[in-house]
Amino acid sequence: MDKLLICPSILAADFRHLGDELRRVANADYIHVDVMDGHFVPNLSFGPMIAKAVQEVVDIPLDVHLMVTNPDDCIERFIPLRPGFITIHYETCTHLQRTLVRIREAGIKAGVALNPHTPLAGLEYVLDDLDLILVMTVNPGYGGQEFIPSMDQKIKAARHLIGQRPIRLQVDGGISLENLHHIVACGADTIVAGSAVFQAQDPMVYIDKMRAAQ
Ligand code: DX5
Ligand code: ZN
Repeated sequence: MDKLLICPSILAADFRHLGDELRRVANADYIHVDVMDGHFVPNLSFGPMIAKAVQEVVDIPLDVHLMVTNPDDCIERFIPLRPGFITIHYETCTHLQRTLVRIREAGIKAGVALNPHTPLAGLEYVLDDLDLILVMTVNPGYGGQEFIPSMDQKIKAARHLIGQRPIRLQVDGGISLENLHHIVACGADTIVAGSAVFQAQDPMVYIDKMRAAQ
């Protein structure tokens, strides 16, 4: 299996001290940026201006998770930041293949996120157009929710679908050292964690422990 990548979600950071919070996760592989529009998900979070500020503090690539109903417009605002990944939601894309091509044409890795109820089947014909599948393990919109147990089966099915392709299998929501080992055994290789990392006494030690869960 590929090296486990750990992506702390800044949604769980203390925004009053965002710079300090980012320095507490300086050994992360990616900084996960949850962009919420108050429409696709009930909550509102932040956009490209905050993402840019994050880049000015730490030299870690961004993993942009777009929970927005208009991903095609939104992508254009994030492309200039050159994030490592831009991930859009399957449920929001009428022309998914075209949107993925646009992200990749810009030289950025393209991801597709699936809400817990969304079947994997819709990805079958775009596997050559994507770099990451994000299996949401909670309903998106908030940090600090419980991992949905039936997502185990979905992670396993996604691993099977990916086969030998160079596609990362990301999971997001309710993940901590408590359940990580099991989730990795199901096939996940790219881990988003918000509350667990930022609530840890020493987030860098916590990230190292997560990385060792392989
Ligand atoms: C949920 C977001 C997650 C969230 C994860 O909508 O996509 O990235 O920040 O937070 P935890 O790890 O606290 O469940
Ligand atoms: Zn996320």
